[in-house]
Amino acid sequence: MARSLLLSFLTAGFFQSAFGKYVGIYRRNDTESHAHGLLHESMDWMDRYYDAEVGYLYSDNTALSHNTRASGWYAAGLLARNEDSDKEEAAKIIRNIIGAQFKDVEDQWFGDYQKYPEEPTVGIPQYPPVIYNSWDPNWRGFVATTFIVILEEFPNLLSYDLKEYMMESLLNATIGDSYRVGGVNSDNLYPAYSNPSIMRALVSGWVGRRLNATNETAAGEMYAKEIIDLFNRDNTLSEFNSGTYAGVSLFALTLWAKYMPTSSVMGQNGGRMITHTWNSLGQLYNANLKNVAGPWDRSYGFDMNRYLSIFALQIWTLVGKEKAPVISRPYLMSHNGDFSISPLVAILAPFHNTLVDNSTIESFKTFPGTHSVKTSAFSPPFDTYPRNITAWLSDNLTIGAETFSGNVVGGPAINPSSFNPAVVQWARKDGTVGFLSLYAQVKELTAVAGKKSLNLTYPSENSTNAFSFLVGTNSRFGKRDVASWEDVEGVDVTASGTVNLNYTVTFNGMNGGAGKVVNDFEFWNFTYAMPSGSSETPHIQLQFELA
Ligand SMILES: *[C@@H]1O[C@H](CO)[C@@H](O)[C@H](O)[C@H]1NC(C)=O
Ligand SMILES: *[C@@H]1O[C@H](CO)[C@@H](O)[C@H](O)[C@H]1NC(C)=O
Ligand SMILES: *[C@@H]1O[C@H](CO)[C@@H](O)[C@H](O)[C@H]1NC(C)=O
Ligand SMILES: *[C@@H]1O[C@H](CO)[C@@H](O)[C@H](O)[C@H]1NC(C)=O
Ligand SMILES: *[C@@H]1O[C@H](CO)[C@@H](O)[C@H](O)[C@H]1NC(C)=O
Ligand SMILES: *[C@@H]1O[C@H](CO)[C@@H](O)[C@H](O)[C@H]1NC(C)=O
Ligand SMILES: *[C@@H]1O[C@H](CO)[C@@H](O)[C@H](O)[C@H]1NC(C)=O
Ligand SMILES: *[C@@H]1O[C@H](CO)[C@@H](O)[C@H](O)[C@H]1NC(C)=O
Ligand SMILES: *[C@@H]1O[C@H](CO)[C@@H](O)[C@H](O)[C@H]1NC(C)=O
Ligand SMILES: *[C@@H]1O[C@H](CO)[C@@H](O)[C@H](O)[C@H]1NC(C)=O
Ligand SMILES: *[C@@H]1O[C@H](CO)[C@@H](O)[C@H](O)[C@H]1NC(C)=O
Repeated sequence: MARSLLLSFLTAGFFQSAFGKYVGIYRRNDTESHAHGLLHESMDWMDRYYDAEVGYLYSDNTALSHNTRASGWYAAGLLARNEDSDKEEAAKIIRNIIGAQFKDVEDQWFGDYQKYPEEPTVGIPQYPPVIYNSWDPNWRGFVATTFIVILEEFPNLLSYDLKEYMMESLLNATIGDSYRVGGVNSDNLYPAYSNPSIMRALVSGWVGRRLNATNETAAGEMYAKEIIDLFNRDNTLSEFNSGTYAGVSLFALTLWAKYMPTSSVMGQNGGRMITHTWNSLGQLYNANLKNVAGPWDRSYGFDMNRYLSIFALQIWTLVGKEKAPVISRPYLMSHNGDFSISPLVAILAPFHNTLVDNSTIESFKTFPGTHSVKTSAFSPPFDTYPRNITAWLSDNLTIGAETFSGNVVGGPAINPSSFNPAVVQWARKDGTVGFLSLYAQVKELTAVAGKKSLNLTYPSENSTNAFSFLVGTNSRFGKRDVASWEDVEGVDVTASGTVNLNYTVTFNGMNGGAGKVVNDFEFWNFTYAMPSGSSETPHIQLQFELA
């Protein structure tokens, strides 16, 4: 009782330096109070998952197994909070994670971190090493960047021994990460795979400098240079506009800007890249719908108000929770596991947010009015040419699309469930958001978003191909059953083109229908096939009116 009174007093009137010890009467600025809120809400939630006996967080829905990466993020949060036994628990978690780090330099997964402590040994016959399944190469980057934030921000809360142990772990992670070469051994780490590539360059460069390991320093610089060259084409990340991974890239670029000296290309360019990335996301953001318009290179949902995106957490620190695309209890949203990265977002926000232009901050509060966006992004070796991106945004209707020509179906991640090259979103009367997304089924698409229109062509396909649109289910006030566009709430859709205008509608639901949900979202599948035997190029134009 006494303690909680004291705490509410502290939160009301005192600034807690690095969220911990107070340093006197201080009025927080907006970023600090939003970040403080994010830190504490996420920590309150994770506290309930913490297994102090073992020193790991439990996973969701896995019969009481634990989770390595979320535990690392929680450890950073414990140090930021630094109450009671927080720092001892953090040390325990960090030691656990490093103890279980892969130690055999011969393994492709050397220096990576386990996914969970109960897992069998990766590489035994019964548990073959399958990249992104039994082991995840990106976890080197996720855990190592977390350790770097911890070492930079809270060195006084860690013992000398622990810091040495973390450096040893980081060196192994760096060496193991250098085994990654896109196209070799099923790996896909190219500079264009923005989020892990930005983490790789940082970890290598930072560790190299700390340990005076010149090879690692040089490797980090070299890799960063390739990332920067791709970025400079049009001031965009290759992994463009993805609610989850734009967040990871912004996080990692913050470490470039904050922790790398100006003698490094990372220190020189990180801040500028953050500013440009926010500008681009700001132009595509519709504050009425609380969504970034499409296209989305990699998305874990179709409406940011319903799945938890890391970028939404950054918006939270910028404009406050009320205005951000999260619900009051964010941990109920789809993809809620990402809520556990919140401590890192909160810790870095006071620095990070100074890099966002004022006019861009405004666009996350108030929609600036109808406008169009034209930009591009490039992901070699998957793209033959840069992808051309167009978007048209109005108060209650946004349309965004990208033209691409590549060598895979489903974008560089080769995943049609996350690659959304043409997306439409609209406001419904009850304040919820309707969506339509073209299901990625081809390697080449010409897609142009215009005023109330979406124009799509498969330039290299024939009559065997069809356009399938995943259309979100209606709000609870709309019709449950959808057989045609007339049944879709909030929007009128008219189609024209070389397609057969008689379309089919099927349903993918949680408990049945034609197929499975995508990223937890149920949808109606509107498919336009070509007239049989047609020799025309598949083409469809959709016109939208708010209803
Ligand atoms: C780092 O890797 C070496 C093998 O090169 C191994 O002996 C050592 O235990 C590893 N350190 C940690 C902290 O995992
Ligand atoms: C770092 O290494 C360089 C050469 O590799 C050496 O000249 C320098 O003295 C080293 N510095 C420290 C602090 O160890
Ligand atoms: C650094 O790289 C050079 C050239 O690839 C190599 O010969 C040397 O062994 C490396 N040094 C260390 C410490 O890894
Ligand atoms: C908020 O405070 C932080 C220091 O904690 C500072 O870095 C940042 O510039 C401040 N932001 C604004 C908008 O004043
Ligand atoms: C941005 O806004 C802050 C706080 O409102 C203000 O101090 C600063 O001068 C503004 N910067 C620019 C470039 O307008
Ligand atoms: C957008 O929707 C809001 C809320 O329903 C409504 O007040 C506003 O008039 C709409 N704007 C346009 C341009 O339709
Ligand atoms: C994008 O536009 C540029 C310039 O007009 C063009 O060179 C490029 O081929 C286009 N990309 C695609 C995938 O068509
Ligand atoms: C739609 O795209 C096709 C093929 O790229 C083009 O011929 C047509 O002019 C476009 N229509 C509109 C209205 O932009
Ligand atoms: C139509 O395209 C498919 C691949 O998309 C191809 O397998 C088929 O041969 C093509 N048919 C004709 C008649 O060109
Ligand atoms: C579309 O469906 C209607 C009713 O089933 C049918 O009469 C018409 O011929 C069909 N049109 C085409 C182009 O298939
Ligand atoms: C949508 O329906 C079409 C036609 O049946 C099918 O080819 C496509 O795979 C479906 N898409 C999804 C995501 O289920």
